[in-house]
Amino acid sequence: MTSTHKNPNFAPKHIRMKILILGSGGREDAFAWRISKDLAKENLFISPGNGGSEQYATQLKFSAVDFNAIAAAVAEYQIDLLVVGPEDPLVNGIREHLENDDRCKNLKILGPGANGAILEGSKEFAKQFMHKHGIPTARYGSFTENQASEAKEFLKKFNPPYVIKADGLAAGKGVVILDKLEEAQDHIDQVFHDKMFGAAGNKIVIEEFLAGMEVSMFALCDGKNYVMLPEAKDYKRIGEGDSGKNTGGMGTVSPVPFVDSIFMNKVIERIVEPTMKGLQTDNIDFKGFIFFGLINVDGNPMVIEYNARMGDPETQVVLPRIEGNFAQLLMDAASGNLEGQKCTFNNKTNIAVILASKGYPESYNKGKEINLPENCEALIFHAGTKKEGEKILTNGGRVLAITAMGSSIDEAREKAYKAVYEVHFNGKTFRSDIGLDLKR
Ligand code: AMP
Ligand code: GLY
Repeated sequence: MTSTHKNPNFAPKHIRMKILILGSGGREDAFAWRISKDLAKENLFISPGNGGSEQYATQLKFSAVDFNAIAAAVAEYQIDLLVVGPEDPLVNGIREHLENDDRCKNLKILGPGANGAILEGSKEFAKQFMHKHGIPTARYGSFTENQASEAKEFLKKFNPPYVIKADGLAAGKGVVILDKLEEAQDHIDQVFHDKMFGAAGNKIVIEEFLAGMEVSMFALCDGKNYVMLPEAKDYKRIGEGDSGKNTGGMGTVSPVPFVDSIFMNKVIERIVEPTMKGLQTDNIDFKGFIFFGLINVDGNPMVIEYNARMGDPETQVVLPRIEGNFAQLLMDAASGNLEGQKCTFNNKTNIAVILASKGYPESYNKGKEINLPENCEALIFHAGTKKEGEKILTNGGRVLAITAMGSSIDEAREKAYKAVYEVHFNGKTFRSDIGLDLKR
């Protein structure tokens, strides 16, 4: 892909470290693209990557949870920094595994240990953590299978709609919001008895419904200190006007207009600082990204969820705004050296539009040939794609993320959608309303 999307403030390629990115989504493609501004291609590796990876890095073939293969690659390529993209390896203890492997003695890892990733891996743990450290979040109760009848009773404490969450990782599908009490009670049976989420549903969390606009915020942490990255709004539903099924995210916008300095100060004081202090108090050495899924309830931020990684497709609008030497900032976070640092970013509006396969988030076909424009003003991040010879084929639900930058939402939308129409594949599906609700 040729792109004219340039940021004059990106640092020159002068640092000598070697970085391995783990993951295969649009988020990891955006990391590879951004890190490639700071690092020569021969020093950047990604595994397993996707159909776009070869543009920026050496693409390796192992999965992000194959810890043995990862340790072998760290030794073979003398990797200095491992950037862990998705949550699975983190929740499964990649940090602990690699720290105990002699082949990784000199490796720095960006991503928390299992005791930090559990903030994402268990909704109950996250709620207890917030409760203990006075972090604003919805009222809740948690229940195991043998407490199904108490859970059904507990629903009556709240007004509809009812929010029921599987405790564990459920590929973004574990949260349901239902209008009727009977539906909510039936859902509890499906989770506990029919095991619709497998072991992730051995426990559930029932929450009070909060109404407001959502925003994703990100802190890059070094264990003690943190820097805030730009915020983003994610469009989670498949259909226009936020209708239909929940997806991993169909588009994003950054910056988010309602995040003014008053709101931001509340986020820092009430949420980010207490979270960082809570981690210290609980002896959780968190080196990596904390993703705060927030909701703006009448001007007051509350936490919907924590994730222990960057968002996808939030990363695709956040990273193009970041200036300076990002690769070094990541290394500093992984090395505990963020004290006194800031993340500098521009104020341009970035919009990402996801091109998905027809049928997503339910079943869809793969293997459709993708035609990309030769020259394009937008960035085209690959997600569910693979390369076969010279061809790029669809290989997942979310196929590409098209990101464009502008001085207004209108300008960014115009550039992004122009590129959207220049990309072709059978079944191309997207939302045409990304960013429209944020126009003033
Ligand atoms: P989660 O996986 O916890 O982020 O939940 C997925 C989505 O469900 C969120 O992005 C919200 O849109 C919605 N949601 C979760 N919890 C609540 C809540 N307590 N009140 C309103 N909406 C919620
Ligand atoms: N876009 C939401 C997530 O990454 O979880």
